[in-house]
Amino acid sequence: MRRSLVAGNWKMNGSRKSALELATALGDVIFEKTDVVIAPPTPHLDAMRSALTSADVLLAGQDCSEHEKGAYTGETSVLMLRELGCSHVIVGHSERRQFFGDSDQRVALKVSRVVAAGLIPIICVGETLLERQDSMTEKVIERQVAAALSQIHDKAKLSMIVAYEPVWAIGTGESANPEQAQKVHLLIRDFLSKYDVVLSESTRILYGGSVKSDNAASLFAMPDIDGGLVGGASLDAKSFINICRSTA
Ligand code: 13P
Repeated sequence: MRRSLVAGNWKMNGSRKSALELATALGDVIFEKTDVVIAPPTPHLDAMRSALTSADVLLAGQDCSEHEKGAYTGETSVLMLRELGCSHVIVGHSERRQFFGDSDQRVALKVSRVVAAGLIPIICVGETLLERQDSMTEKVIERQVAAALSQIHDKAKLSMIVAYEPVWAIGTGESANPEQAQKVHLLIRDFLSKYDVVLSESTRILYGGSVKSDNAASLFAMPDIDGGLVGGASLDAKSFINICRSTA
């Protein structure tokens, strides 16, 4: 049985104060069935780490550089994220792909950096509305997954997490319905079985895109949805904790 995981991606939102508030709210909550990961903006990682009292709540970077170090102004390396206490790094988020030119090749390099640093990549994949309307969902997802896995060794693949985030559902309030999401999650799992059956069965596949307290339980009840990557609703401590409690 795969253990559930819920990750909160704050994107470029929230303040140091709200990061401390969430850390405090999470402090006395126990999640028996779920791993919880928070990805606040990089400048707030340190404050959040100091304020988190539960060892069960983990931290993630929202992105990383594909370079190890050097003259790359504005970038954050995986080693820096590790030093800040991150165990996970989100890679290939559609906003990075769309606004910052993260190609499949760059995503693959980033995944390999994350793995080389001993951290766990949360690899985001997902189709746009146009691609869905053109019946391209399967092709796009398989291409993105294959590229992301192309630079890492088999053992590292076993710890990775995949997040299915249909671009049309992100920040729109219009989540994929549980059946739509399940269909793509199963597609991803079937695709992973071409690499290895154990990999396919053990990989946690998260759903992201307008997950809220009121739709989380029905999404997480689907057999191949192992948790969520939550954007907007993770900024509010109460709703995020509710979502973390909604896992099957
Ligand atoms: P929303 O939950 O705000 O739609 O964002 C989803 C997301 O992009 C998480 O990475």
